[in-house]
Amino acid sequence: MAKKVLVTYASCTGFTQGVAEMIGKTIEDNHLVVDVIPMKDVKNLENYDAVVAGSGIQAGTWLPEATKFVRENRSELSKKPFAAFLVCMTLAMKNGENCRSHVQTWLQPVKSLVPTVSAEVFAGGLDLKKIPSASDRLKFRLSTLFGIWKAGDHRDWGVIRLWAGELKSKLA
Ligand SMILES: Cc1cc2nc3c(=O)[nH]c(=O)nc-3n(C[C@H](O)[C@H](O)[C@H](O)COP(=O)(O)O)c2cc1C
Repeated sequence: MAKKVLVTYASCTGFTQGVAEMIGKTIEDNHLVVDVIPMKDVKNLENYDAVVAGSGIQAGTWLPEATKFVRENRSELSKKPFAAFLVCMTLAMKNGENCRSHVQTWLQPVKSLVPTVSAEVFAGGLDLKKIPSASDRLKFRLSTLFGIWKAGDHRDWGVIRLWAGELKSKLA
């Protein structure tokens, strides 16, 4: 019988949602049935054989709702293959790749709640119009003017698909 995988995400401006959807599309086949659902809409985990969870990063951490989701479900998640990812702008900076090992530490709080079969970090994007807070919008507008961050979509779909493809056997 096909196994059921939940890919769940928390996303403030939509970039992590797109990453979660790509992961779902990549791992789905005759043997793996995949649901891609925002964390706030997940009703129960018992029906799933494996879970992939990801969040956009703000101030160097997963969004609060994402950490809460893992904390509240840690015992159920610990019974299944569990993978985690994050989406951020640091990796999209010039020389951002040099920060990869630092960015990986942002997943440590999640890994210490639930052991992961795999954990990965991805570059996301910056859409100033979608940032809810006016003061954050101003801050990030300045960061683009000073050339620290570049607005736009920096997701590397090849890298995302590669990770998801390698993940399949670890979830099955
Ligand atoms: C308020 C705010 C704070 C952020 N803080 C960070 C940060 O500390 N480090 C980082 O690399 N990216 C940071 N980002 C960039 C986001 O992680 C990036 O835009 C990501 O693609 C957002 O994913 P989402 O659209 O799914 O929320 C921040 C973005 C916002 C709006």
